Amino acid sequence: MSKKIKIEAEFEELAWDELTIEEQQLMMRARKVSASAYAPYSNFHVGAAVRLDSGEILQSSNQENVSFPVGVCAERLVLGYAGANFPDLAVKEIAIVARRKGDEIWAGVSPCGLCRQTINEMEMRFNRQISILIQNPDGSVLRFSGIQTLLPFKFDDLNA
Ligand code: THU
Repeated sequence: MSKKIKIEAEFEELAWDELTIEEQQLMMRARKVSASAYAPYSNFHVGAAVRLDSGEILQSSNQENVSFPVGVCAERLVLGYAGANFPDLAVKEIAIVARRKGDEIWAGVSPCGLCRQTINEMEMRFNRQISILIQNPDGSVLRFSGIQTLLPFKFDDLNA
C-alpha cells in the first residue's frame, strides 16, 4: 500500500522593526553590497550577507558571466568566502536581498537550488542551523530557522 507523506513548511514574516538590531544590520549590509552586483545580463542585483559566530559580517553580490552558467549567485560567493577564510567559524545567519537595476523597490527573491544546497552544506559543516532572512518587496522580511524548510527531502547523506 502506498503511503502519502506530507512535508510542512514553517517560516515567519516580520515587519522591519520586528527584526533584532543584528538582523537589521545584516539586512543593511546585504542591501548595500547588492549595489556592487556585476549583472549586465540579468540586471538582477542580489546582495547576500552572512554573520559569523564571531559577530563579523561578510557580504557579496552576484557576479555574472557572458557564458551564463559561469555566473555565481551572491549567496554561494559569500558562503565560499566564509568557508575559505574563516574555516573554524560557523555561519549564524544569512540575509538575502535583490533589486532590478534602476528600481527603487526591492524585488522578490528566493535562493536557487544550488544555493540552498550550499547553505545546507554549511549547516552540516558546523552541525548548526543557519537563520535565513529574505527581503520581501513590501518591506517585510521572511525568516526561516534553517535550510530544511527551503530544501525539504534534501540530499545530505552519502551513506543513507
Ligand atoms: N541570483 C542570486 O545571486 N541569488 C539568488 O538568490 C537568485 C539569483 C542571481 C543569479 C543571476 O546572476 C541573477 O541573480 C539572475 O538570476
